[in-house]
Parts: sequence; structure tokens; C-alpha cells
Amino acid sequence: MADAHKLWANKWALITGASAGIGWALAEQLAAGGAHLVLTARRTDRLRKLATDLSSRHGVKTEIFGADLARAEAPGEIQAFTTEKGIEVELLVNNAGFGAFGYTHELAVERMLEMVQVNCSAVVHLTRLFLPAMVARRHGGVLIVASVASFQAVPFISAYAATKAFDLLFAEGVAEEVRPFGVRVCALCPGSTNTEFKDVAHQPDRAFRSAETAEKVARVGLEGLAAGKSCVISGAKNRIMTQAERIAPRRFVTKMAAKMMRSAEP
Ligand SMILES: NC(=O)c1ccc[n+]([C@@H]2O[C@H](COP(=O)([O-])OP(=O)(O)OC[C@H]3O[C@@H](n4cnc5c(N)ncnc54)[C@H](OP(=O)(O)O)[C@@H]3O)[C@@H](O)[C@H]2O)c1
Repeated sequence: MADAHKLWANKWALITGASAGIGWALAEQLAAGGAHLVLTARRTDRLRKLATDLSSRHGVKTEIFGADLARAEAPGEIQAFTTEKGIEVELLVNNAGFGAFGYTHELAVERMLEMVQVNCSAVVHLTRLFLPAMVARRHGGVLIVASVASFQAVPFISAYAATKAFDLLFAEGVAEEVRPFGVRVCALCPGSTNTEFKDVAHQPDRAFRSAETAEKVARVGLEGLAAGKSCVISGAKNRIMTQAERIAPRRFVTKMAAKMMRSAEP
């Protein structure tokens, strides 16, 4: 669907994690389609630059709000900001997230709990805050960035993969709840994507050899949402892999993943 990004023209979209990678690409594409944007992340210098650029190139309205989603209060503060500005959020993009590579028994516990907060709790919280108005309006959308790691256990990023399984199942469940009210919910499942993710996660480059671009992944997500899908996987190879995993014994799949991730160790 070539015009998927135009579905939100003249409507407000709120994007978490808009300061880099997939979130940045989604902001670019939504602005090109005429959507007004609320951009949020911690690095407000980047958000300011992006907002100014998108407003001048596409003539859309933009607002930025600095928030650390590892803080439990952040989703409420984001919603309060939109209410104060009189902004009706028609599309919520839960994109912010990060991973952590390594032995679970060695990773810093604070980092892992932050990951659960950002990747899961904040997603539930923001969705719960913005969904009622969408249901009442009988129009709206929620895009949740999950992963191909949502479909299986992945040793050495075990906690991260589990957060992404949570995101996928949350999105698919809510999608069926609100479909009768005209609200679309879609889980976008990218495979390895060329962003800052691998540096933040301290994940070796090897695992990202055939990575897709953030632009391609963003386009697939907006197309999936426009088509009313509750889940969309970016990349043919990734789609085949997730299908194959379904028929193979789970323990086998996890062992293979362990082998692959172990060989990716720095
Ligand atoms: N890249 C991949 O291979 C891949 C594959 C599958 C799924 N994903 C998912 O795609 C999503 C986007 O990741 P990406 O690849 O675009 O990575 P990225 O380039 O590292 O971008 C991550 C974004 O999340 C934001 N973020 C991280 N921690 C945050 C926090 N505590 N509070 C607020 N914002 C925070 C970052 O902004 P600030 O640092 O400015 O706060 C940044 O804008 C994530 O949910 C990730 O799990 C990525």
C-alpha cells in the first residue's frame, strides 16, 4: 500500500524513541504523509533538530517532549503534555526500546529492570492512556515495535527477547479487542536493523550482517497498520524464519539460537 503513510494526514501521531533509528524513520515518513508529530525520547537536542527539519520540509506541526521511559511517571507526563497542548493523538507509536547482550547472570540487574520498564510497562501504560479517546472517536491506531525475537527464546538476549514476546502478544490481543471500534493495533516485527540498537545493546556486529534499513522497516510497519494487520514482519527471510520456527521443536530452535548468538560473541 504505497499511500499508507498518508492515512494519518492532518492527524497527530505520537512517536516514542524518535531520536534515532526506526522511530526517526517513522517520523520522517509520517511527516511526509502530512501527519503532525509529537516526538519524544531523552535526547531532546536530536528531537528539536528533527522537528524543525520536518516542519520546514513538510509543513506539518511538531512538538517535542523529553522523557525517560525508564521512569514509571513518564507516560503520564507525556499524556499531560498532549492534553495541555490540546492535541488529540490519533496514532500512538510505541517504538522506544533497547536490548542488552550477554549472560543473564552477568548483566546489571538495574539495566534489565529498566528494559522491562521501557520495553513493556511503558508500552502498556501509554497504550492504556491513549486508547480510550481513540475508542470513543471510533478512529485511531497503535503501532507497537516488537521484533522477530518475539517469536522464540533467544539466549544471550533472553530478557530482551522476552520483552518483545510480551509486546507482540499485547499488541495482538488488544488489536482484536478494539477492531470493532475502528481502532487499528499492529505489532511491527523487524529483524536485524541498521540503527544504534546494536551499540546500545553491546551486541556484536556479526549478528547485523544482513540488517535491513530503518526506512524499510518503518515503511513495512505503516503498511501493516494501514492494511489492518495485527502483526507484520519485515523482510521475506525473517517471515520464512518465523514460520519455520513454528514447526520445529522449541528446544531445538532455542539451541540453534544459542549456537548462533554464542558464535556472535565478541
Ligand atoms: N535495530 C534492530 O535490530 C531491532 C530489531 C528488532 C526490533 N527493534 C526494536 O525497534 C525499536 C527501535 O529501536 P532502534 O533499532 O531504532 O534502536 P535505536 O536506534 O537505539 O533507537 C532507540 C530509541 O529508543 C529511545 N529510548 C531508549 N531508551 C529510552 C528511554 N529510557 N526513554 C525514552 N526513550 C528511550 C532512544 O532515544 P533516547 O536515547 O534519545 O532516549 C531512541 O530514540 C526498539 O523497540 C527495538 O527493540 C530493533
